[in-house]
Formats: sequence, C-alpha cells, structure tokens
Amino acid sequence: MHDRIIILDFGSQYTQLIARRVREAGVYSEIYPCTTPTDEIAALQPQGLILSGGPCSVYDDHAPRLDPALLQLTRADGSAVPVLGICYGLQVMAHQQGGQVERAERREFGRAHISVPADAPTDGLFAHVPDGSTVWMSHGDHLTELPDGYTVIARTDNAPVAAVRHTEAPHYGVQFHPEVVHTAYGTQILENFAHEICGCAGDWTPASFVEEKVDAIRDEVGDRHVILGLSGGVDSSVAAALLHRAIGDQLHCIFVNNGVLRKGEWTQVQETFRGHFAMDLHAVDATDTFLAALAGVTDPEEKRHIIGNTFIDVFEEETERIANALGQRPTFLAQGTLYPDVIESVSFKGPSVTIKTHHNVGGLPEELGFALIEPFRELFKDEVRAIGRLLNVPEAIVSRHPFPGPGLAIRILGAVTPERLTLLRAADAIFIDELRANDLYNETWQAFAVLLPVQTVGVMGDERTYEHVVALRAVTSVDGMTADWAQLPHDFLGHVANRIVNEVRGINRAVYDITSKPPATIEWE
Ligand code: XMP
Repeated sequence: MHDRIIILDFGSQYTQLIARRVREAGVYSEIYPCTTPTDEIAALQPQGLILSGGPCSVYDDHAPRLDPALLQLTRADGSAVPVLGICYGLQVMAHQQGGQVERAERREFGRAHISVPADAPTDGLFAHVPDGSTVWMSHGDHLTELPDGYTVIARTDNAPVAAVRHTEAPHYGVQFHPEVVHTAYGTQILENFAHEICGCAGDWTPASFVEEKVDAIRDEVGDRHVILGLSGGVDSSVAAALLHRAIGDQLHCIFVNNGVLRKGEWTQVQETFRGHFAMDLHAVDATDTFLAALAGVTDPEEKRHIIGNTFIDVFEEETERIANALGQRPTFLAQGTLYPDVIESVSFKGPSVTIKTHHNVGGLPEELGFALIEPFRELFKDEVRAIGRLLNVPEAIVSRHPFPGPGLAIRILGAVTPERLTLLRAADAIFIDELRANDLYNETWQAFAVLLPVQTVGVMGDERTYEHVVALRAVTSVDGMTADWAQLPHDFLGHVANRIVNEVRGINRAVYDITSKPPATIEWE
C-alpha cells in the first residue's frame, strides 16, 4: 500500500490540479468532498490532508465547515496527520480555531511576490523556495488575526499573512494557490508538504498504480464476472486492458455499433480487442435500431436521449445473452470514468446548469444492478494515457482525440440519414488522415468535420452544383472545458478543403470554424 494524501474539496476550480501536482511528486492522492464524514477519511489512513480552496466566504450562510476532529487525526505510528489549508481551506481552518477572517473590499487576484524569512527551515513548507518568488493569489476574504498557536511563515507586499503554520501541530496554511502554474515554486511547495512534512516516500508511479489496481481488482472480483462497455475511446480501452490484465476471461466487453461511428471504427476496434488483446469481445451491430429511433429527429438533446436510451437497451440485451452463456449474471460493471467526469457530482456544490447532457457520464443506470469498478476515477486523461502505454494499448487508441458518445449524430445538423452519414464519414476521414500525415493530429485536442443542413451553389467543370457544406472544427484545449480554435496552417486547410470537395460527391464547400469556447462549444450540437 502506497502512502496517500487526501484532498478535501471545498469547491475550488483548482482542486483537481492539487491532486495532480501531488501525484507528480510521486505520492498517490485522492479527492473527497468536504462533506465526507471524518471517520470515512480516517479509515483511508492518509499520510496527510489538504483542504482545497473554494468559492465561499466563511461568513456565507451555507459555507462548508471543517469538522474539528479532522485536525486531530493520527497516523499508524501515532503521529498527527499533517494538514495544509489552501486559500478557503486556510480560512475555514483558522476561523474554526478562533482566528479572524475579514471580508475583503475586492478580490485580490493575480501575481504577488512572497518574502520568506532567511531562517526558514530547510525541511519546511518553503524549503528551496527563493525569497521573492511569484505566487498566484485569487481570494476575496483574508486572514487578519491568527488563531492561538499559529505563526506567519511568509508574507507578500499586500498580504501580511501569505502562509502560516502551527508552532507544534503539523498544520499549515497558504493564502495563495501553489497548485497553479503561475505560482513559480508551487510544485516545490506541494512536494515539500508531501515529502518533508508528511514524510511520504514519493515512490508512486503509473506502473505502481497498475500493479496496485490489478491486485485490488483481483481481490474484489474473485471468481465472479465483469462486464464493460467498450467504445474504442481512450478511457474504456485502457480500462479494458487493465481489467483484462487483472482477470483475463472473466472480463466481457460489449462494443455496440450505434450506427453513428466514424469510418472504419467498427472493424478497427474489433481487430484491436479481439486480435491484439484476445479479449472476450461481444460486438453488437445495432445500426438499424439506432437509425430507426433517430429518424427525423433534429433536436440535439433528443438525439442524445435516444442514443443513450437505445444504448442501455442494447447493452442490457447483450448482458442477458452473456449471463445465459455463463450461467450467471456478471456482478460488476467496469467503466473508464475519469476525474473530470465525476467532479460535478463529487463537488459539494452539486451539478451546475446543464448546457449539454453528456450521456457517457454515469451513462448506465443504477437499475441494472451492477457493482461499479471505476479504476480511473481519480485520474486525468494524460495519466490514463500513460497507463495505456504501459499496458500496450496501441498508440492510435492511446493518443486518440475524444469522441462523444452520441457520435456523428451530433455532427450532422438536422436529421441523421444514412446518406448524410456517408458524406460526413468521408469528409471527416480525409481531415483526420491529413492531420496525421502532416503531424498535426497531436497538436490539436480534438478535430472533426460537421455536416451543415444547408446547400450552396458551386461550379464543377462547366456544371452548376447545389450541394452540402461541411465545417471543419479543430481546437486546442487542456480539458475540453475551455478551448481555442486551432491555428492550422492556411495551406494545410486549403489542401483538406480541396480534397474534400473533389473526393466527396455531395459536398461542394468547406468552411473552418474560428470560434473559441466559450462562447461557442466544441461540438456544434
Ligand atoms: P462541448 O461541445 O460541450 O464538448 O464543448 C466538450 C467535450 O465533450 C464532448 N461531448 C460529449 N461527450 N457525450 C459525450 O460523451 C456527449 O453528449 C457530448 N457532447 C459533447 C465533446 O466532444 C468535447 O470533447
């Protein structure tokens, strides 16, 4: 069992980054909502606790509180569990212990420079952090009076209290955000907390993650069976590879052709998982069922619901078939859910306004009665990619762009028909092939073609044409939450447009989407 640091989420947009930085320091970390009962946290036997920032003021009516018992936890050797409060995490910790937090007139936002006393201990929070280095502030309230037993260990020009520690207990707090890249030595500060203060070994790697998960999955599953919905995307593919390593033939993958896959996908996924991995793969071609259900539907959300519901029906039917063959119903459902997929439900704030329902998130309903195995719940996509490489998942899958569950249905504006699917598949394949051929695929976060519900006039040879328009969309992004349009070279775009209108009969015009997200979204529907 590796050391782990538990992060309590008070609702900060940066919480996931804290987990990330701690793992980069070689220490496994997991995020729990700040409302998690203390005995559950204690049962995880953390080597350290980090309290995240958050949007509230400690004076707000519904401000999340800190259970004082969390500051009294002990570790296996009897020593106190070290705690680091970040921004709101510091304020709630201080407020709870009798410190004074004041409402600021306006938010302090942006860069500041910390002064660290010359005699700062070399094994403390600021070890190897130069005096005057940049930190990133983003807070409204601030701490004006320390609770008993605390002392200031760093200040900035604007903030007399930038960091504090308790003189006896291993309790620390920072007003700035060490987890964001703008804090020059932020990684060092979190590493100091994890290694020097919590005493974690720093021996956690993706390889040790695989080893631990394989053992844990074997223990949990025993001689029972697991079902997994494979889409051919990074997350479900790497989950399948991990589960397969752990339990071999007790894993049964279901791959559904929903009729809105891209060109070649139906056969490629089967070749990879049946051929390369020799997995028990159940490929179900339900194209007709899906396309019949989608016939005439133009509303994007309705398309999503139809695809989501039809998928559940097809999946359930296939599970029945597998259960009959095995003589028992599989107990578990494995999913490649990632941290960004769960954050909304984990955070104490509850889900935010629905802009688009992403049906793969919790896509299969609880009524199916499976116990869930979600080995990547705490990880980010690039961490899952690293794990996929360790598990020999082919690079073409590991580095694949995200592809939405409702597939091409939300890239055909208007009704989905077999003819339109053929046009879009052909145009999309040309765009993607050219991106790969020109080493631009990995420079973009996601790229695809969209078929527009308009026809325009063109001329081919001596003839007038009146055909479809395709929009090309390529974006750069870190997590899909915000995105910028990719500045692909003009001659490259010209070449792709030329190939599409020459090779795809039925399309006579291509346009390039140059809007960012926000205000647009990545997909057009
Ligand atoms: P938007 O269009 O909201 O997309 O900017 C952000 C990311 O989410 C993907 N996306 C979906 N994924 N089901 C999914 O599984 C969906 O309904 C869905 N809608 C959008 C989109 O491709 C992008 O990566």
